[in-house]
Amino acid sequence: MKNTISAYKTMSAIEKKLSAVAARSRGIIPYSTTADGRFDDTGEDSICWWTNGFFGGMLWQMYNYTGNSLYKELAEDIEKKLDENFMLPWGMDHDSGFKWLPTAVAHCKADWNEKSHNRGIIAAENLAGRFNPNGNFIRAWNDSGDGSRVGTAIIDCMMNLPLLYWASDATKDPRFSQIATRHADMAMKHFVRSDGSAIHIGVFDPNSGEFLRSEGGQGYATGSSWTRGQAWAIYGFTLSGLYTGEEKYFETAKRVADNFILQSAKRPDMGIPIDFDQPLDCKREDSSAAAIAACGLIELGKTNEKYYNAALDLLGFLCENRLSLDENTDYLLWNCADSFWSNREQMTLIYADYYLIEALLKLVGKDLPIFTPTKEGK
Ligand code: GLY
Repeated sequence: MKNTISAYKTMSAIEKKLSAVAARSRGIIPYSTTADGRFDDTGEDSICWWTNGFFGGMLWQMYNYTGNSLYKELAEDIEKKLDENFMLPWGMDHDSGFKWLPTAVAHCKADWNEKSHNRGIIAAENLAGRFNPNGNFIRAWNDSGDGSRVGTAIIDCMMNLPLLYWASDATKDPRFSQIATRHADMAMKHFVRSDGSAIHIGVFDPNSGEFLRSEGGQGYATGSSWTRGQAWAIYGFTLSGLYTGEEKYFETAKRVADNFILQSAKRPDMGIPIDFDQPLDCKREDSSAAAIAACGLIELGKTNEKYYNAALDLLGFLCENRLSLDENTDYLLWNCADSFWSNREQMTLIYADYYLIEALLKLVGKDLPIFTPTKEGK
C-alpha cells in the first residue's frame, strides 16, 4: 500500500465485491469459506462462537462508508440472532467484546438505539463479572464445570477491553474501566516478555491470584511468539492507551510492535508467519495477524511515522498478494490460520477480512470507530 490513494482504489474494488457478497448472504453468520470460496454459516456451528460479531462489523463499516441500507439490514439481523447467546451461559465468555462491539455497540455508534445499547451493557456486565480481583485478570474461557479453566487469561482479551471502556462511558459507572485497566496492567506485567514479544495463555492460581505459568495455545509452542497474539497485543494495548490516555499502554504497544517489525523482517520472502518461532523453512502464514497488526500500527502511526510505514508495508503485501477481488468468492484474504497445529492448513477467516477493511478505512479516514473510541472519547 503506497498511500491513501491506493487505499481508496482498493476500497472501491472491495466495495464492488462486497455489495455482491452481501446480496447473497442474508441470514448467514460466516466464520470461513467452503472449498468453492463461499461463506459457511454460523461460526463453528454454534451461535456462541467467538467470531460471530465480525461479519456484522464488516457490514456496519460498509454501511458507514457507503450508506447502502442492505448492509445495515443484514447487520441488524445478525445482532438479533446473537440474542440467543445471552441465554446460553456456557457460551458467555470473555469474547463478549469480539461479539457485541462489532454488532450492538457498532449499531449504537452508527445509529443510537436503546435495544442495541442494552445489548452492549448486558455483554459488558458479563465481561466485568469474569474479573478475578486477586489475580487482576479477566477469566478467558469456560470449562465443563470442573474448574480447569478458572485461572486462565489470554492475550486476546486486550481486544475485549474496549467494551468495558465503552460501558463506563455509557453508564457513567467507572467500575467497568477500572476492571479494564487492572487487567491491562496485569497483562503488561505477565504477558509481555522483556524482548517485547507476548505470551498467549497465562495461568493463575484463581484463589491467591498468583501467576503460575504461560502456555502455548494456538502458536508453535510454549515460549514461542504466535503472531496473532502479537497483533492482539499491539492493537489491544494501543486501544487501552486511546481510551485512558495513559502513556504506559502506548509504550507497551510500541515494544510489541518493534519486536513484530524486527521478527517480520527475518522472512522477506513471505507474509506474516503463523508464529515467529516456527521453523524458517515453514512458509505457512496468517494474513489475519497482518491485518490486525496493521490496525494497531496505524493508530500508533498517528504520532510516529515508523509505525505508519510498517502498516502500509503490511497492507501493501496483503492487497497485492493475498486479496481476492473475484466476485464469485465471498472471502477477501487468504492464507490465514486459526492455529499453528490446526489440520486445516491455510484458510480464510472472517476476522481477517474485518480488520483489513477497518485498516483500509482508517487510512482514508472513514472508519466507524468500533474498537477505537469515538472523537468524543466514547
Ligand atoms: N481469539 C482467538 C483467536 O485469535 O484465535
